[in-house]
Amino acid sequence: MQNVLITGGCGFIGSNFIRYLFTNSGSSSPGVFQGRIINVDKLTYAGNPQSLTDVETRFGDRYVFVKADICDHAAVKAIFERYPIDAVVHFAAESHVDRSIVAPDEFIRTNIRGTFHLLELAREYSNNLIRFHHISTDEVFGSLGEGGFFTEHTPYDPSSPYSASKAASDHLVRAYSRTYGLPVTLSNCSNNYGPFQFPEKLIPLIILNALEARPLPVYGDGMHVRDWLYVVDHCAAIWLIMQHGSDGETYNVGGRCEMHNIDVVKLVCDLLDSKQPDSGIGSRQELIQFVKDRPGHDRRYAIDCSKLQNELGWSPAESFQSGLERTIDWYLDNRQWVERVRSGEYRKWIEAHYGEK
Ligand code: NAD
Ligand code: DAU
Repeated sequence: MQNVLITGGCGFIGSNFIRYLFTNSGSSSPGVFQGRIINVDKLTYAGNPQSLTDVETRFGDRYVFVKADICDHAAVKAIFERYPIDAVVHFAAESHVDRSIVAPDEFIRTNIRGTFHLLELAREYSNNLIRFHHISTDEVFGSLGEGGFFTEHTPYDPSSPYSASKAASDHLVRAYSRTYGLPVTLSNCSNNYGPFQFPEKLIPLIILNALEARPLPVYGDGMHVRDWLYVVDHCAAIWLIMQHGSDGETYNVGGRCEMHNIDVVKLVCDLLDSKQPDSGIGSRQELIQFVKDRPGHDRRYAIDCSKLQNELGWSPAESFQSGLERTIDWYLDNRQWVERVRSGEYRKWIEAHYGEK
């Protein structure tokens, strides 16, 4: 794979994946990625090119950024015309469940229609294409009860406009494999955490609020379960699937790390109390506030990732404790990135560079 088109590469997982490809991919058997990455991103509120400043500096000769909407057929077609794209990794999406409940329109447009446009272009330029990898989520499966796991055969049962839109996009991707023979692979992943995550998601939100003695909102009774995965482990899984996965196949990716939300929040509090004690705040667990539950809130997610482990030899390297410590350290060490994101300064930078709101 020499010319890899990445959509949504300025978001949380996409930016980590681009960095992983240029720097870490050599730590597993395939060797460091030597090709070119073309990153197409619309730069929504969640897209921040400053998450890739180091990549631009170090790998600028093999890294191309194109600001475009994946629904803009002509703009994305121009990329396929210009570069002999041999692999697509499709991250671009509206990704936040709470936003999808308040304003679902963009989720339907980007996640469903955007995926359709990309598939159409991949089909048109399929002569060169060896891989179309679609990033999906465990949320398409709906909620588990007390026991059991999501496998690749669990029926779809999405609860939110976000997960329904991701489910629709997954179906489209599989349809293009079966109908047109597009060389697709899919991965359905559990909750990621790590550096560069937009602070609307639980872990960065709690870290930053806890640092500033703000309330820590926990939805409902806090006993909802998520299966946490360190983002770099996810990146390694994606790259492995792209290279060694079988056409048309889906792989579940999870951290084998089920946690109740309340326990995640308490652990963040305890780690911050020891890393950054503040006598004015005292015990940060005191900041926890139980708030109104999310409508349609899925109770429990847990991934069975044995297919990926047994067939491709992947397993997560990071424990939740070590991954969370790395994440907290990153947010403590990168206050400038955080402040620019939280104050909206980064949007002004984007407007100045790209001349658009
Ligand atoms: P994110 O919200 O941090 O980033 C999304 C990126 O897509 C942003 O850079 C944004 O600007 C871009 N984008 C949005 N609409 C676009 C459009 N119309 N055209 C071009 N670019 C557009 O999301 P994330 O957390 O990095 O998630 C990436 C993918 O992984 C998504 O498909 C998401 O559904 C999936 N996923 C996320 C998680 C998780 O825990 N974060 C878990 C499983 C799956
Ligand atoms: O499971 C994979 C999914 O994980 C991805 O597909 C989504 O893109 C990603 O956003 C994430 O969805 P969640 O809804 O699980 O993530 P979020 O961080 O929003 O919430 C995690 C859990 O914490 C969830 O049960 C809701 C709860 N929560 C969240 C927030 C923001 C709170 O209790 N308080 C909060 O303030």
